Amino acid sequence: MSEKLIIQGGNPLQGKVKIPGAKNSALPLLASTLLTDKPVKLTNVPELKDVQTMLSMVRKLGKDITTNSNSLQITGPVTSNKAPVDLVRKMRASFLVLAPLVGRTGEAIVPLPGGCNIGTRPVDLHLEGLKKLGVKIKHEDGRIFAKTDGIIGNDVFLNYPSVGATEQLIMAAVVARGTTTIYNGAQEPEIRDLVSFLTSLGADINMNGSIIKVTGVNELGKTTYGVLPDRIAAGTYMIAGTATNGNVEVTDVDTSSLKPLSLKLKKAGITVKEVDNTIKVKRDQRPDNLEIITLPFPGFPTDLQAPITALLTLAKGKSVVKETVFDSRFGHVPELSKMGADISVTNSSTVFINGKKTLRGTEVEATDIRAGAALVIGGLAAKGETVVSGLGHLDRGYSKLVENLRTLGADVERVK
Ligand code: UD1
Repeated sequence: MSEKLIIQGGNPLQGKVKIPGAKNSALPLLASTLLTDKPVKLTNVPELKDVQTMLSMVRKLGKDITTNSNSLQITGPVTSNKAPVDLVRKMRASFLVLAPLVGRTGEAIVPLPGGCNIGTRPVDLHLEGLKKLGVKIKHEDGRIFAKTDGIIGNDVFLNYPSVGATEQLIMAAVVARGTTTIYNGAQEPEIRDLVSFLTSLGADINMNGSIIKVTGVNELGKTTYGVLPDRIAAGTYMIAGTATNGNVEVTDVDTSSLKPLSLKLKKAGITVKEVDNTIKVKRDQRPDNLEIITLPFPGFPTDLQAPITALLTLAKGKSVVKETVFDSRFGHVPELSKMGADISVTNSSTVFINGKKTLRGTEVEATDIRAGAALVIGGLAAKGETVVSGLGHLDRGYSKLVENLRTLGADVERVK
């Protein structure tokens, strides 16, 4: 039976929330452990459904993994180069095993990915880049057959700074003969985390903005490494605090990776204070309207587009949110509309919002991870009861959501 969140809205969120490791960092890090046979210890690994999916994948490919709450020990050789279809269809990030598999074994069969329902998400940039590095690619029956006599370093220009394609190419280049230079690579903090992790294993990588130079090494070693904090989870709690007229402190965060959000919240008249690795947000007034445009980092993150849209339905005046990273990421819009928001979306991916003083609780459904977060934020701020279904999406990206919200004073429960 499907589960639901029941939220009695109106409680201002107050207090501290400790932010776990980033999903979008843990997933590529786990895929890249296939590049070494030596023991890797990962700490600050978030407890999430997507992490479980990637662990199942890495196990199926041969790795021996022991878990101890947020720490993982991963060791041993790759024993299979076929990624199971059920795991790749569950989550797009599983496609990231392609480069390490073909790089280590010379051959890989990886089904085309599934994942969040947020528009067309091709993998052409991954495949074009790998071809440049000497990988032969065949596409048959929904699967990619990749083969190489050895990855060879080359210059690769990405037409778009795709996060996944950049990760895929860095992983291939680490085990290549010679030097690879990726031009127009993604610069997300999670890419930097992958680079630091691989460097700690002995890789030779130099990241200079969007130009990433990787010189292949014969073998990678072992390491102990802590996953970067989750800027999207942190941002979600910051926005929830603001939307509920609250006073929330997120701790254990990387403040610089949250600048695009912090600066927008300040612009809306919210008090945002950064001290060491914490950020406090306090709302002294109803937020002012904002213009948001999502862009690759350091632009405003697409993953916070839905959450900030929920906040802006309660801001003063008219806001505009333009989504440029994905072509269809508006599952939250009709649901926020059911809650009484004055909101519409054009076919050029622009959301127009006329801020209202209140939302009202109703039944809504999460269609992807971040749309789900937006509905929870709406429900926490709304008058009355909100029932959110589609929790499978939220479980992919938010660990201990109910527990954390309750600690902050929210009236929320999860029911069957
Ligand atoms: C990652 C994040 C996701 C985030 C996104 C953008 C993970 C596990 N997921 O997803 O949460 O929203 O970055 O910050 O880290 N594209 C192509 N061809 C390709 C690859 C991508 O056209 O080969 C397009 C996509 O369809 C999309 C855009 O590029 O429109 C961005 O995608 P990308 O940066 O690759 O995102 P993901 O790595 O899938």
